[in-house]
Amino acid sequence: MMIPNQFYCPFDTVTLFFFSLVFLLLHTSASPMLQHCHHDHMDALLEFKHEFLVNGFNSNSSLSSWKKNSDCCVWEGITCDTKSGKVISLDLKYIPLNNSLKLNSGLFKLQHLRNLSLRDCHLHGEIPSSLGNLSHLKHLDLLGNYLVGEVPTSVRNLTQLKYLNLNDNKFTGNIHVPFANFTKLTHLDISNNQFTGEFPLVLLNQATSLSVLVISNNKFKSIFPSNMSRFHKLEHIDVGGNSFFGPFPTSLFMVPSLTWVNLRENQFEGPIEFRSISSSSKLQSLFLSQNNFEGPIPKSISNFLNLETLFLSDNNFTGPIPISISKLVNLVTFDISQNNFIGPIPKSNLVKLEYLDLSNNKLEGEIPGWLGGVLELMLSHNSFSRFGKSLEVSDVTHIQTLDLSSNSFRGPLPHWICKLRPSMFLDLSNNIFNGSIPQCLRNTIVPLRALNLQNNNLTGILFQDLFVNATNLELVDVSGNKLEGKLPESLINCISLKFFNVRSNKIKDKFPSWLSSLPSLNVLILRSNEFYGPLYHPRVSIGFQSLKVIDISNNHFNGTLPPFYFSKWHGMTTLREEHQSYTVYMGYPAYGGFYRSSMEMVNKGVDTKFQRIRKDFKAIDFSENKFCGKIPNSVGVLQELRLLNLSGQIPGELGSLSFLSIMNFSHNNLQGPIPRSTQFQRQKCSAFMYNSNFYGLEDICGKPHVPNPTPQESEDLSKPKEQVISWISAAIAYGPGVFCGLVIAHKFSPHIHSWFM
Ligand SMILES: *[C@@H]1O[C@H](CO)[C@@H](O)[C@H](O)[C@H]1NC(C)=O
Ligand SMILES: *[C@@H]1O[C@H](CO)[C@@H](O)[C@H](O)[C@H]1NC(C)=O
Ligand SMILES: *[C@@H]1O[C@H](CO)[C@@H](O)[C@H](O)[C@H]1NC(C)=O
Ligand SMILES: *[C@@H]1O[C@H](CO)[C@@H](O)[C@H](O)[C@H]1NC(C)=O
Ligand SMILES: *[C@@H]1O[C@H](CO)[C@@H](O)[C@H](O)[C@H]1NC(C)=O
Ligand SMILES: *[C@@H]1O[C@H](CO)[C@@H](O)[C@H](O)[C@H]1NC(C)=O
Ligand SMILES: *[C@@H]1O[C@H](CO)[C@@H](O)[C@H](O)[C@H]1NC(C)=O
Ligand SMILES: *[C@@H]1O[C@H](CO)[C@@H](O)[C@H](O)[C@H]1NC(C)=O
Ligand SMILES: *[C@@H]1O[C@H](CO)[C@@H](O)[C@H](O)[C@H]1NC(C)=O
Ligand SMILES: *[C@@H]1O[C@H](CO)[C@@H](O)[C@H](O)[C@H]1NC(C)=O
Ligand SMILES: *[C@@H]1O[C@H](CO)[C@@H](O)[C@H](O)[C@H]1NC(C)=O
Ligand SMILES: *[C@@H]1O[C@H](CO)[C@@H](O)[C@H](O)[C@H]1NC(C)=O
Repeated sequence: MMIPNQFYCPFDTVTLFFFSLVFLLLHTSASPMLQHCHHDHMDALLEFKHEFLVNGFNSNSSLSSWKKNSDCCVWEGITCDTKSGKVISLDLKYIPLNNSLKLNSGLFKLQHLRNLSLRDCHLHGEIPSSLGNLSHLKHLDLLGNYLVGEVPTSVRNLTQLKYLNLNDNKFTGNIHVPFANFTKLTHLDISNNQFTGEFPLVLLNQATSLSVLVISNNKFKSIFPSNMSRFHKLEHIDVGGNSFFGPFPTSLFMVPSLTWVNLRENQFEGPIEFRSISSSSKLQSLFLSQNNFEGPIPKSISNFLNLETLFLSDNNFTGPIPISISKLVNLVTFDISQNNFIGPIPKSNLVKLEYLDLSNNKLEGEIPGWLGGVLELMLSHNSFSRFGKSLEVSDVTHIQTLDLSSNSFRGPLPHWICKLRPSMFLDLSNNIFNGSIPQCLRNTIVPLRALNLQNNNLTGILFQDLFVNATNLELVDVSGNKLEGKLPESLINCISLKFFNVRSNKIKDKFPSWLSSLPSLNVLILRSNEFYGPLYHPRVSIGFQSLKVIDISNNHFNGTLPPFYFSKWHGMTTLREEHQSYTVYMGYPAYGGFYRSSMEMVNKGVDTKFQRIRKDFKAIDFSENKFCGKIPNSVGVLQELRLLNLSGQIPGELGSLSFLSIMNFSHNNLQGPIPRSTQFQRQKCSAFMYNSNFYGLEDICGKPHVPNPTPQESEDLSKPKEQVISWISAAIAYGPGVFCGLVIAHKFSPHIHSWFM
């Protein structure tokens, strides 16, 4: 820098002062350590701070540096321009501001801001239009707040924006107008809001530099544009969870930089085709699930040599799995479930494959040995019938989950299941496996969480030490086989057990009171076996503390139930907030897959399958045994009971079950007085029809009880009427010499629909 001549001569103080000023300025611009905050900006920041004072801004010590009379450029979250000292970046992410942004907020006086992050700041209310004042913004991050309303049109002013993130708020409305001038945008994420309207074509016209476009989980609805290749720098696009329709957007796949495409959960239709895909394509992840795509997988898919994740599930794809898939050597996750694929699994060797879901197709033939290396193997609901020879010798020890259910396997359980060490699920249900359960299975199930052998043709006994070290097991279902003998005593080691079902076997044993010590046992189904003897032993604890569903019907239990019988069943009586369910989650967090087991209970003499048992489902079914006497009074403490199927006389205590809004005692052999509580008296007359020995009906029916047909009782129970399921009329009153049953149903919330298949 040139210093003018005339300053050289005299050493007067003015010159000296000026000199040092120049030096200082030079120094300041060279070193960021000496920035000074603009007064205006400090005032604006303090003003901004005070807007949130009421709501605990200050309580967070992390902003304690924001003090008057200190340089605001060194305050936490602030960056100043090194030359001008103007505040250019404000980063308050994760600080709970917990208030709304005001129209005249100090924030909007920081007009030189280039970066603004208010991510996860608990902001609510609308974005004020004065945001348009921050016309230098390049980077705006409002992710994870509770912001509502439309994005103000004034954001058209933010013509410099490169990065915009509004993910996970509650914004509504159309974005065409506010997003009109985003010509420099490279990263846009507005997912998880309630934006409406058509695909934002304005982006196609303006923001052609976009590399990240995420608009998933909104309410966009329109035909999907066919000129997506205009986004010539696109790398990552996610439009899932909207209502886009139209044909497969082939043009999108011409963009060479593309690595991630998610079209999941829309209404795309027709065949998929890829034109002129170069084998240098960078595509790594492709999600096409939950659309209406059809036709075969095109052979050209094998050009995506870098593909790691391919989801085609829940469409109407047909034809065989193309052999060319074997060229996708980088595949880690491959899901084509819920389609109409046919034929065998092609020969291949995808050594990186960890997750394979072929379930719910029409595939057949054998399970080839190369699948032995896959971690999670879902092959259910197909027509597979054999295991390849190579599977016998392949290393299957890495398999964590194996689901072979609902196929056509027959014959003895394969030897290699003894080599398995799955830590998640082993599901062989609904096949025709026969012969006995090998003793070595006790080694297989040591790390396991769920074992399902339901509905096969297995015979023999359950070895007494089968469960000796099975401390992780949460679900055991061996129902629908021909197993004999006693329940294995080693079950007592299954301290994680929640669900135990031996329904429909030939188990001949006493009631397993000893299972009552299992702390998590929610569901116990012993129905339709040869259990015998009394349920109640004076010396044995009956405290099933977590039990929510018990079905011991159709056995040879006899004896009486003492009045206090249910009094220790805390699982039935206490309201718990914890989210317990019988759905055991599959260990594949990235895509949220989960495993469901099913259970069956009797309804109208017909089995109704409860595909999923909710945490708020409580049921007792003791019907078709030889109990005698009264229903124990203590049933009145089962405060959350939804379904009760006992026999005998109605105890008055039932009236205290306030949630039992709908009851039906018709078609039973019930006796005695109808309890006088309002709960009972509110019921319709028809709820008590067809019982020979009831009295007290006059109050309810208004005239002497005359049994008459009650047409509504015979309605299809699987169609809830006014959200009410009348389970009941069933009356379980069949079987020779058997006490009648009684079922009481609750007024169900709509989600019960999912219990019915
Ligand atoms: C304060 O902010 C930090 C992040 O800067 C956050 O981790 C912490 O939970 C906050 N404290 C309170 C009390 O909100
Ligand atoms: C947010 O503010 C509301 C009152 O406006 C208050 O009830 C709530 O507890 C605050 N939440 C947090 C996390 O500070
Ligand atoms: C917006 O900017 C204008 C100047 O362009 C200024 O007068 C006004 O006060 C600003 N609004 C807010 C809320 O800061
Ligand atoms: C602004 O944000 C961009 C993108 O995150 C970042 O690269 C840059 O360092 C930030 N600038 C300041 C001053 O914080
Ligand atoms: C747009 O920005 C300019 C300054 O760049 C400002 O004067 C004007 O008020 C802003 N408009 C809106 C609508 O915020
Ligand atoms: C924004 O775009 C509209 C047209 O879409 C135009 O009229 C306006 O001048 C633009 N504003 C700025 C600040 O570029
Ligand atoms: C892109 O296609 C849509 C229709 O799909 C059309 O309305 C729009 O004008 C096209 N835009 C460009 C820039 O070609
Ligand atoms: C699936 O495709 C088949 C023929 O390819 C067709 O018959 C069937 O109706 C389609 N199903 C749906 C739900 O579109
Ligand atoms: C198992 O079934 C096969 C037919 O699938 C039959 O040949 C075989 O005898 C059966 N084995 C046993 C033990 O029942
Ligand atoms: C089950 O095994 C029995 C013999 O134990 C046989 O009679 C029956 O046909 C088998 N069931 C099926 C479905 O193969
Ligand atoms: C069960 O665990 C014990 C102690 O770790 C061990 O000695 C035994 O071999 C195990 N048995 C089985 C069947 O895994
Ligand atoms: C219960 O049944 C057994 C036979 O299984 C019989 O010996 C016993 O006497 C019966 N007990 C009662 C109380 O009926």
